[in-house]
Amino acid sequence: MRHSNQGTMNVLVTGGAGFIGSHLCDALLDAGHTVVCLDNFLTGSPENVAHLREHPRFTLVEHDVIEPYSGPGSEDAGAVMHLASPASPVGYRTHAIDTLLVNSAGTVNMLRTATQCGARFLLASTSEAYGDPLEHPQTEEYWGNVNPIGLRACYDEAKRFGEAATMEWIRQFDVDARIVRIFNTYGPRNQLDDGRVVPNFITQALRGEPLTIYGDGSQTRSFAYVSDLVDGLQKALFTDGTKGEVFNLGNPDEFTILEFAQEVLAVTGSRSRLERVAPQFEDDPSRRRPDITKARTILGWEPKVPLREGLERAAAWYRTKLGA
Ligand SMILES: NC(=O)c1ccc[n+]([C@@H]2O[C@H](COP(=O)([O-])OP(=O)(O)OC[C@H]3O[C@@H](n4cnc5c(N)ncnc54)[C@H](O)[C@@H]3O)[C@@H](O)[C@H]2O)c1
Repeated sequence: MRHSNQGTMNVLVTGGAGFIGSHLCDALLDAGHTVVCLDNFLTGSPENVAHLREHPRFTLVEHDVIEPYSGPGSEDAGAVMHLASPASPVGYRTHAIDTLLVNSAGTVNMLRTATQCGARFLLASTSEAYGDPLEHPQTEEYWGNVNPIGLRACYDEAKRFGEAATMEWIRQFDVDARIVRIFNTYGPRNQLDDGRVVPNFITQALRGEPLTIYGDGSQTRSFAYVSDLVDGLQKALFTDGTKGEVFNLGNPDEFTILEFAQEVLAVTGSRSRLERVAPQFEDDPSRRRPDITKARTILGWEPKVPLREGLERAAAWYRTKLGA
């Protein structure tokens, strides 16, 4: 493994005003890069990057990446990191057509920008590209088990199109691109009401409301803390020899939803009870856990923040947010 020593560069981050994107902007600026953040605030908010407004190397551009981009960074970016997309089931069901388009037309537009600039490119794909997997844990070689016409297809299939497009831009135009499949990530700035299990449980616990368990709670998830994920994104982008590679990024520690609920209660000191309800979305995977051997070996990356510690940091943020 060798991390590129190309120095600092201009990085275009789409979806930079979102949850993961805003932490990525912070980390890139800390590393000395110049950051142009493109966002249309569909599911993100300028508030997530408000602390960067006066930063001399940060520019926020309101732009819908479904449209071609010709603003700052479009001619001289050294890297394009394409994160723009609703990410939660609530987000992509509310914005189904936008989700299809940002991951298809939006990905193509950003691949064109990267080609024009001779820039590195990173596609933020998702573990949902594996659908409801029949193999556990999932390695990058697994092709997935996806329902192409279900309620999740606007997200899963559009991400799969984005992956196919990225590979084709490598074959046709020799773009220095790679794909990361992100597994469940949590932490500060994860929208309170986006329906994902971490914000749901923490906000319910802090409000003293019952924790909603969809189904019987035996389904498993693995949760990566956002700083770990952002570290992995940068390593995937900057490690030499990763052109055309696909990396799972996530935390392989697997918990049932019931175990996870107990952790949240312990961290928040809440006495909320658990409430079982019918599953909200069809095709909800029963198990999901990344095999991160490839990222470990090639990127020298692995998650460092244990669940308990990450939940404490996240809960502190939600506490302030709810108090405000
Ligand atoms: N959070 C997770 O657990 C997770 C898991 C797997 C994959 N991902 C992927 O990571 C990326 C970031 O996810 P997140 O959790 O930060 O979600 P998020 O919704 O907080 O951030 C996405 C950002 O993209 C912006 N956006 C959406 N459509 C856009 C468009 N057409 N033009 C410009 N900006 C647009 C939104 O306004 C938002 O700021 C997404 O691509 C998502 O699919 C996230």
